[in-house]
Amino acid sequence: MRKRRFSQAASAVSNTVMPSFWIERITACARRFAIIGAITTLLLAPLPHLLNAAQAMHEMVVAESEPAARAGLEILQHGGNAIDAAVATSLVLGVTNAGSCGIGGGGFMLIYLAKTRQLYALDYREVAPKAATAAMYLRNGRPDEDLARTGALAIAVPGELAGLDAALRRFGTKKFSEDAAPAIKLAREGFALSPHMAKEVAMTAPAFMADPAFRTVYFTPDGKPQTADATIYNRDLAALIERLGDDPAANFYRGPVAATIAAFVKEHGGIVTADDLASYHPVWRDPIHLTYRNYDVYTMPPPSSGGVVLEILGMLSSGRVAGLGVDSPPYLARLIEVMRQGFIDREQYADPAFVKVPIEELLSAKHIADARDRALHHSSLPPIGAAHDHGTSNFAIVDKDGDVVDVTTTVNTVFGAKLMVPSLGLILNDEMDDFAVAPGVPNAFKLVGEKNNEVAPGKRPLSSMSPVIALENGRPALVDGGSGGPTIISGVTQVTLNVLDFKLRPAAALAAPRIHEQGEPDLVFVEESMPVKTKSELTAMGYRLKVVPELGAVNAIRIKPGILRGAYDQRKGGGAVGD
Ligand code: DON
Repeated sequence: MRKRRFSQAASAVSNTVMPSFWIERITACARRFAIIGAITTLLLAPLPHLLNAAQAMHEMVVAESEPAARAGLEILQHGGNAIDAAVATSLVLGVTNAGSCGIGGGGFMLIYLAKTRQLYALDYREVAPKAATAAMYLRNGRPDEDLARTGALAIAVPGELAGLDAALRRFGTKKFSEDAAPAIKLAREGFALSPHMAKEVAMTAPAFMADPAFRTVYFTPDGKPQTADATIYNRDLAALIERLGDDPAANFYRGPVAATIAAFVKEHGGIVTADDLASYHPVWRDPIHLTYRNYDVYTMPPPSSGGVVLEILGMLSSGRVAGLGVDSPPYLARLIEVMRQGFIDREQYADPAFVKVPIEELLSAKHIADARDRALHHSSLPPIGAAHDHGTSNFAIVDKDGDVVDVTTTVNTVFGAKLMVPSLGLILNDEMDDFAVAPGVPNAFKLVGEKNNEVAPGKRPLSSMSPVIALENGRPALVDGGSGGPTIISGVTQVTLNVLDFKLRPAAALAAPRIHEQGEPDLVFVEESMPVKTKSELTAMGYRLKVVPELGAVNAIRIKPGILRGAYDQRKGGGAVGD
C-alpha cells in the first residue's frame, strides 16, 4: 500500500467549511512542526461533525456515510479500481443507510474511464412488475397515492444488485465477494447508527412498529426506536450478501432468494413475482452531454433527470453569473427562472423504452435559447409545495488511475415501502411512487404526474437522480451528485455552478445556501441559511419564498492535476476520505 501523504483528518480540517479559530491555529501549528497527522487527528477526534471535507493526491471517496466512504477507500487501497470501490460503497450504504438505499432498491452509475477517456451510464433503476397497470392505484375511480408509497403494491422490481454485478463484470477488477466483505462485516458485527439514520428510524417507527424483522434490527429490546450511536446489527442482511457469493445477480434474482422475496410480496398483497425478478436487466446507456463554458458536462440520460440539469446550465450559459455572487438576488432570480423552465420541460421525460423523450431537441441550442426566453416571460401557475424527504444516497469516487464514478441509489422514500423481508433483512423500495399514479396527481415529492410517466409493465419510473461528471480539456474536473427527490436537480445544478462558475472548493460549494424551484412560479424554496438581505430582496422582486431548513444533500469532488478536493454534505452527514 502506498504511504499516505498526510492524514485524512489533517487534510480534512484544512477544507472544513468554517473552521473555528482554534482549529485553524492548531492546524497551522501542526503543519509548522511537521507533526500534522498525530496532533490534528488526536485533537479533532471529538469533532467529526466538522470534518466534511478531504484533500488528497491520488484517490478519494465521498459518501453519505463515513463507513461507506472508508469501505470504498479500503478497496482502492487494496488494488481495486473506482468500480470495485463503487460496489463496496453501495453495499455498505445499503447497510448503514438502509433507510435511503440498498439491494432492495436501484440506482444510476456514471463512469469515466481514464484509459479510454470514455464515459458510460448504467441504469439499474427498478421496473414496474409485469402485472402492473396504469390504473393499479385507482380505487373506486379515484387515485390512492398511499398505495404507491407504503405497502407491497408500492414495490418495483429491484435493480441494485443486477447493476452492481453488471458494472463489476464489465469494468471491475475484483470478485464481488471481495468488494462485499466490508458490508458483510458491518452488518454482522455492528455499526453505529448515524444521527441522520436515527432520525429516519424515529420518523418511520410508527409504520414499522408491528414489523418483527424491523423491530429486531432498529428497536431496543424494550421496544423503543434506536437512537444515534446505538450499535445496529442486521445479521440476516449479512448472511444474504454473503450467500450471493461471486454471482450476485443469479443468486438474488433466481432461486431461493427470489422465491422468498416473491412469497413475501405476495403474502403482503403485492405483485412482484419470481418471474419479474428473473426478468430484470440493467441497461447501459449513452451518457448525455452539454458544453457549458469551458466544460463538457456529462450526466445520465432519461429516465434520469440529468438532462434537466444540463438544460438549466445551458440556459445560464449565455450570460455571466460568476461576478454576481453566489447568494446575490440577481443571480438567484435568474436561476429561479431557468430552473422553473427546466422542471416544466422535465414533464417530457420518462422511460425512453416507452416514450420518445426528445432529449436531443431539449438540449439543442435552439430549444435552450427559446426556453431561456420563455423563462423570462413566464405566466403564472398555482403553487405546490416540495416534500422534504431523505431517502436516496449519493457518492463519488476518483481512483489513482483517474477513473471517476458517481452513483445515486435509492429505495425512494425513507425505508421504501416500509416492508422488511424477515429472513433476508431486506428493505423493499417504494419506487412505484415515482410513476404518475394518475395524470395530474402529485407524488411524494409533489411532482405532478404526467401521462408520459404513467405505470406500465416493465417500465422504469422517471427519476430526479442526476449524477454529473464535468470534463475540462477532456479530463475530469468535477464529479457531483445528490439525494433529496427533485432537490437533487436543483442541488446538483447549484453545486456544479458553485464550483465551475464561482470557483468555490467543494466544501464551500456544498455549504452555500440553496434554492429550489420545481416548476410552479409562485413558490421558491429557500434554505434558512440564505442571508436575510437576499431573502428580503427576492421577496421584493415578487417571489413568494418558502424558507426550509435544508434542500437535499450533494457530494462533490473537484479534480485538478495532482490534487483532489472533496466533501460530503453536512446537511445529511457522511464521510470524505482519500490518500
Ligand atoms: O428517483 C427519484 O427521483 C426518487 N426516487 C428519489 C427519492 C429521493 O431522493 C428521496 N429523498 N432523498
